[in-house]
Order: sequence, then structure tokens, then C-alpha cells
Amino acid sequence: MSDSVNNKVVELRNVRRSFVQADVQIDVLKGVDLDIMPNETVALLGPSGSGKSTLLQAVGLLEGGFEGSIKLAGEETAQLPAKGHTRIRRELLGFVYQFHHLLPDFTALENVVMPQLIFGRSLGEAEIRAESLLASMGLGERLHHKPSKLSGGEQQRVAVARALANSPKLVLADEPTGNLDEATADIVLAELLALVRREGSAAFIATHNERLAAKMDRVVRLHDGVLT
Ligand SMILES: Nc1ncnc2c1ncn2[C@@H]1O[C@H](COP(=O)(O)OP(=O)(O)OP(=O)(O)O)[C@@H](O)[C@H]1O
Ligand SMILES: [Mg+2]
Repeated sequence: MSDSVNNKVVELRNVRRSFVQADVQIDVLKGVDLDIMPNETVALLGPSGSGKSTLLQAVGLLEGGFEGSIKLAGEETAQLPAKGHTRIRRELLGFVYQFHHLLPDFTALENVVMPQLIFGRSLGEAEIRAESLLASMGLGERLHHKPSKLSGGEQQRVAVARALANSPKLVLADEPTGNLDEATADIVLAELLALVRREGSAAFIATHNERLAAKMDRVVRLHDGVLT
């Protein structure tokens, strides 16, 4: 298919990853197949140690050492040099981590403006978009706060706005609300999903929380190194 709009955002085939520690080999991913369509939100469930973070690192092109085929927006990434991975991450992906990783010396607004400047947007355009994203995460009154002056939930909301700043085709999140109390986690995840859906991105989100997972379009489970 030449039209990139029709491409699967993610197409994994037989993805494998093993770690060797103290001469013992652990096969964490034993042949993962996964398709994610444009606009689709997919929850990744699995017990601790089942390989959720490892799988997200594969899709996010954050680590080497994977075998198999990892296609993002139709492009095979396996043989690409690091420069190609950096380009795909910048053009296609947005990340939300469990701990927000905001720049501490910059305001909420600046944290969302920055990736857009790197992407080539003008300061004016970037600020308008950052304000709009932050406002839709309920932070219209917190634009000029630095992360240390924000609550945990607010920090995570800024991190969500930042992940969406460059209109990624795919948002990747590793337990994005794992650091928050239950009630706040529910609200922040609902806001994240609303924003992802409004922006037309797809999302692949690792979580331990069945209830949060049920709010997404589809749930996949990692068990014994494969997805079910
Ligand atoms: N860099 C590494 N070196 C060696 N072993 C690793 C490495 N990274 C992960 N592992 C092992 O791979 C397995 C899967 O780890 P991973 O972090 O992907 O699990 P997870 O499902 O994200 O768990 P959690 O829910 O606790 O975050 C674990 O047994 C872990 O010890
Ligand atoms: Mg993990």
C-alpha cells in the first residue's frame, strides 16, 4: 500500500529478545506478533517481569538486541542505522514515562514548546499549540509553573501534553499513571485517551490496571513471551 494513511502504525512479526545474566539466558520475548492500526488505543497487560517495558522499548526503538521484524508506519526498522531510528522516533512517536522526565528548570509551557522548536516550528506556533494542549489537560492556569510547583498528577498531564506536541502517529506509555493515586490515575488516563483520540494518534500503553485497560479499544496480554 503506497498511501501511508492506510499503513498499520505498528506491525511486529516474531519479535524476540533474550537477556543473558550470570551465564543464564532469559528469553523474555519469544515471538511477539502485533498490529496497531491508526487511531487505535491498545493496552498492554502482563505480570511484573513479563516483558512489557522490553516490548515498549522494541516499538519505541529505544534499545537494540531485538530479532524479528519491527515495522512502524510501514517502514522496516530492523536494519536501519541509529540515525534512522532517531528520525522515526522524532517524526512518528511520542513517549510518556512513569516518572514525568520534565525539564526541571523550565515551565510547563516551555516543556511542551521545546520539542516543537526542535521539530522546526516557530516559537509563536509552538506556544499556541502548547497552550491548547495544556488547557485540554486542565492546566490552563498552570502554564508558567515549573514542575516542582506542580502536583504529581499535574506533572504527568504536562508529560502527556509534551508527548502529543508534535502530533505523533503513535503514543507509547509505560505505566503512565503508575506513580499516581488511584483516583488521579483514572482521571489522567481518561484525559490522555481523550487527547490521543482528539489528536488522531494511536496509543500503546503498558499498565497493571485492568480497569484502566478496559477503557482502551483493545487489550493484549504478555504471557510466557508471547501476546495473547
Ligand atoms: N537490561 C536487562 N538485562 C537483563 N535482564 C533484563 C534487562 N531488562 C529486562 N530484563 C529482564 O527481562 C524481564 C522483563 O523485564 P521488563 O522490565 O520488560 O518487565 P515488565 O513487564 O515491564 O515488568 P514491570 O511490570 O515490573 O515493569 C525481567 O525478568 C527482567 O529481569
Ligand atoms: Mg515495566
